[in-house]
Amino acid sequence: MSKGSSNPDLIEIVSVADVPYLGARVVKTQVGSIAIFKAGDEEIFAVLDECPHKKGPLSQGIVHGKVVTCPLHAWNINLENGMACAPDQGCVKTFTTHIENNKVYFLRAEIMSYA
Ligand code: FES
Repeated sequence: MSKGSSNPDLIEIVSVADVPYLGARVVKTQVGSIAIFKAGDEEIFAVLDECPHKKGPLSQGIVHGKVVTCPLHAWNINLENGMACAPDQGCVKTFTTHIENNKVYFLRAEIMSYA
C-alpha cells in the first residue's frame, strides 16, 4: 500500500487507480460535489460536478481527450479550464489537483477559499 502525503496543505481525495479511465469519480466536499476526471492521456482534472448550462452532472458525461460532454444537453466542457466550448458560453469551477504516491490531493487553501 502506498503512503499518502504528510503535507498538511494537501487534502487526500482518492487513489489515481480508483478514477476510471475516460470517466469520473465524485467526491462530496464542503464546497459541493467535485468530479475527478481521468482524461484521455490519463491526466487528472477536478471540476465542480455542475454543468454551467443547467447544472447537469458532468461526472456522468462522456470524456474525450480533455473534454467532457454533458449528459443533459451535450455541451462540451474543457476540463483544463472549465470553459464551455464554442458556441456555448459558460464556465465551471475547476480545482487544482496534486498527484503524489498515486493519490489525488486537493490544495487545502483552495478548497477553504471556495467554501
Ligand atoms: S445541463 Fe449541461 S448541457 Fe445542459
